[in-house]
Amino acid sequence: MRVGIARERRTGERRVAATPDTVRQLAGLGLEVLIEHGAGEASGHSDASYEQAGATVVDPLGLGDLDVLLHVRPLEPETPARLRRGAVTIGLGSPSTELPTVRALRDAGVTAFALELVPRISRAQSMDALTSQALVAGYRCVLEAAMRLPRFFPLYMTAAGTIPPAKVLVLGAGVAGLQAIGTAKRLGARVSANDVRAASADEVKSLGGTFIHLDLDAADAGGGYAKELGADRAARQRALLAPHVADSDVLITTAAIPGRPAPLLVTADMVRAMRPGSVVVDLAAESGGNVEGSVAGSDVVVPTADGGTITLVGMKDAASTMPADASRLYAKNVANLLALMTHDGSVEPDFGDVVVLDACLTHDGEVRHPATAEALDTEGAR
Ligand SMILES: NC(=O)c1ccc[n+]([C@@H]2O[C@H](COP(=O)([O-])OP(=O)(O)OC[C@H]3O[C@@H](n4cnc5c(N)ncnc54)[C@H](O)[C@@H]3O)[C@@H](O)[C@H]2O)c1
Repeated sequence: MRVGIARERRTGERRVAATPDTVRQLAGLGLEVLIEHGAGEASGHSDASYEQAGATVVDPLGLGDLDVLLHVRPLEPETPARLRRGAVTIGLGSPSTELPTVRALRDAGVTAFALELVPRISRAQSMDALTSQALVAGYRCVLEAAMRLPRFFPLYMTAAGTIPPAKVLVLGAGVAGLQAIGTAKRLGARVSANDVRAASADEVKSLGGTFIHLDLDAADAGGGYAKELGADRAARQRALLAPHVADSDVLITTAAIPGRPAPLLVTADMVRAMRPGSVVVDLAAESGGNVEGSVAGSDVVVPTADGGTITLVGMKDAASTMPADASRLYAKNVANLLALMTHDGSVEPDFGDVVVLDACLTHDGEVRHPATAEALDTEGAR
């Protein structure tokens, strides 16, 4: 069966859905791999390296000839109609925001798998692209902050005097937040963090961070995810966080609620109350923002009352800023999910397997993911 990898076309996207390593893995499963000319260029993989791994480089990639299409970003709404009925796609689907593409996948009879829907169970960890990409993003947030902060992260005791360590506050201690905590600790900062999930306190402590306990009930939604706070609790959380924000040199926010806009954790007034020179990095800037005033892909300079400035960094395409390792992990996630469905060189999704079942977005002319099917119905009824 033929598996194709197209060059990613979205501006700012530098990752690729297969590396020479995963091409070898797929070829070993008896699959024929076609890759579009230049698909790996931005992540450091030449056409020649794919050819050496056993792929055929083509230009352009004929979508109608493929049994399987691997991708990074959600497909454009016009792409599914170019695939053959029954073709399989595997990649990020962003089902809650890409409804036109979901509709097109359904109408084209494509069997689409969205990596965001892979269940968070031990057996599926090697296919969990949310985790692998959040790891890259969390690390990168800290580097972005460190490069802009006009001071050191670590403590230095020198003959010319002592430099205290920078204080880093991380809000949202999921995969990206924990990675940010670990990275900031390795750079020598004094790190504290807060999250609304009950389990997060131990996770923060295990990385050497100090957990900030707020007088607020935990908000777990199950499956490792948080519940959205109501307006009153969210306002209370902001009020309780305010002194901690004001006392940090670096604030990194990574809070998210699956399928919902990011919660607002920090108001513009809270940012203005920070010390001059402080840096705020909002990883959620692309999905609504945890920090009021952040702009995805830009630095916003915020004046403070005493004439200084705070730099507010709105992260965009965070994982894509480190395309080599982000692709290495992502491509492995994709190949592992495809391997789960491949038997004797043939791709045959077994919907009796909970990983395959849960990850499926559309199949046989239907939307299989209940929340997305409901969102499409609601939209259709409008
Ligand atoms: N295979 C597995 O078992 C597996 C894999 C990955 C993650 N997980 C679990 O899931 C957890 C979260 O995963 P994620 O990073 O994808 O989550 P996520 O991206 O959905 O959210 C990021 C973090 O923001 C937090 N958050 C939401 N609202 C908040 C608020 N108002 N204030 C502060 N924090 C807020 C969430 O609790 C979460 O920790 C992980 O820490 C882990 O425990 C399990």
